[in-house]
Amino acid sequence: MAAAARLLLLRVLALLAAAQAVVGKSAVLSLRELDGRRGAATETRSRSSRYADAKLAEMLGEHKKAGAARRATTVLELKRHSLIAIPDDPAARDRYLRRLLAADESRANSFQLRDDNDRAAAAATRSGSAEVPLTSGIRFQTLNYVTTIALGGGSSGFGSPAANLTVIVDTGSDLTWVQCKPCSACYAQRDPLFDPAGSATYAAVRCNASACAASLKAATGTPGSCGTTGGGGGNERCYYALAYGDGSFSRGVLATDTVALGGASLDGFVFGCGLSNRGLFGGTAGLMGFGRTELSLVSQTASRYGGIFSYCLPAVTSGDASGSLSLGGDASSYRNTTPVAYTRMIADPAQPPFYFLNITGAAVGGTTLAAQGLGATNVLIDSGTVITRLAPSVYRAVRAEFTRQFGAAGYPTAPGFSILDTCYDLTGHDEVKVPLLTLRLEGGADVTVDAAGMLFVVRKDGSQVCLAMASLSYEDQTPIIGNYQQKNKRVVYDTVGSRLGFADEDCNYV
Ligand SMILES: *[C@@H]1O[C@H](CO)[C@@H](O)[C@H](O)[C@H]1NC(C)=O
Ligand SMILES: *[C@@H]1O[C@H](CO)[C@@H](O)[C@H](O)[C@H]1NC(C)=O
Ligand SMILES: *[C@@H]1O[C@H](CO)[C@@H](O)[C@H](O)[C@H]1NC(C)=O
Repeated sequence: MAAAARLLLLRVLALLAAAQAVVGKSAVLSLRELDGRRGAATETRSRSSRYADAKLAEMLGEHKKAGAARRATTVLELKRHSLIAIPDDPAARDRYLRRLLAADESRANSFQLRDDNDRAAAAATRSGSAEVPLTSGIRFQTLNYVTTIALGGGSSGFGSPAANLTVIVDTGSDLTWVQCKPCSACYAQRDPLFDPAGSATYAAVRCNASACAASLKAATGTPGSCGTTGGGGGNERCYYALAYGDGSFSRGVLATDTVALGGASLDGFVFGCGLSNRGLFGGTAGLMGFGRTELSLVSQTASRYGGIFSYCLPAVTSGDASGSLSLGGDASSYRNTTPVAYTRMIADPAQPPFYFLNITGAAVGGTTLAAQGLGATNVLIDSGTVITRLAPSVYRAVRAEFTRQFGAAGYPTAPGFSILDTCYDLTGHDEVKVPLLTLRLEGGADVTVDAAGMLFVVRKDGSQVCLAMASLSYEDQTPIIGNYQQKNKRVVYDTVGSRLGFADEDCNYV
């Protein structure tokens, strides 16, 4: 009875949400551009925006000088990994993309509450829930976003430059870490390994420091452990062990050093000097955490940047495509084309690092959807998950309406691919008209997924192009808005005002 009443209430709420017109659109998507092969015309435009970007950076530099009391905003370049290009050979490409999506599935699963016995029992009695096999739990590469930081200070008197390190930008974790000398087990990275011995400003965190206990526990789930450097008493270092749900890990010494991002320099930044690291972090030097707890970059820089950051993720996958990561709330660095609309940022004490929001309604191509799962659970927004995962009821509604509208053009269907089950053969079409998904967030903000975020091109010839979203297995799992659906948006994280903002923006800055 209670369950039926709840269901009815949810239906009514869904219908109420439906009554408010959700602005919906479709857009023409150039499949060629989505795949990162850009024509001469695009390149010309790129060069002029690179110039504009330089001007903007210069202006921001002036801002900082002009008012020390003002909250500075730092604009960083945010580049797609370009270390390993997606292979051209169809079989190799197929294997590669499958691996990436399997890794993404590992990450998405790692956010779900562990209740394996119940899950197993439930799975045995349910049908129609496809479980994708977990691979080695490695993280994926090119579908994450990275930025370059400068770490360390010159040995006193000699002014040797800091190390430039390219790291993954992750809003789904807190502790920043880089691979460090002397590595006991490091994966191959493109930048030279960070050498603490070469930095005069480097210091190991003592194991009686609060950063080693409560802060590290909040950030990683485990407090640090004590170890001596061999020198004996009073010189105990704090060791961290960071394990990601997908099997990746970083372990090493908790340390402080000077870090510079986009021209701004921060002293005494707490990070992990990783001596043993594994996972598919590509060829990056490590990861920078933008989560909610004390050790994240956002929290450590809160006095300077007011606990606000934002990013704009580029859709184009070619190596030089660049978006921006802004620290601070100065909106003059944004190039948004619509006003920033805010929704409530929700915290879950059981999952401290994560940012949640509430999706109360959805529309595809302007047609409002009714689904029981809308507004029912907090939704995680994450820069480190690629493909958006929706509650089964919401996904089914999205898929049905998408299929109705997109399918009306008569494209032949194609086999599903990994976690993506709705695919088309678009061979011979350079451009297609794509119905767009609009999400209505609590408080009334509408976020419409960019055309580039609607389709995932499995085969370059267009013979297998899939709806770039997936269903969770169960209605009560945590839905996730992945980075694929955040492209060409200004996404603002205001941790002090407890709100998340969204605006349309063309993020292909370079
Ligand atoms: C780091 O990058 C900056 C800017 O590109 C450059 O000036 C500097 O020499 C680099 N430092 C090192 C150690 O490579
Ligand atoms: C930590 O230990 C060192 C050396 O024993 C001591 O000098 C320092 O005051 C201690 N710090 C705290 C916060 O207890
Ligand atoms: C989402 O917002 C709706 C409408 O305000 C509300 O009824 C619902 O309880 C909210 N859901 C969550 C998970 O906060």
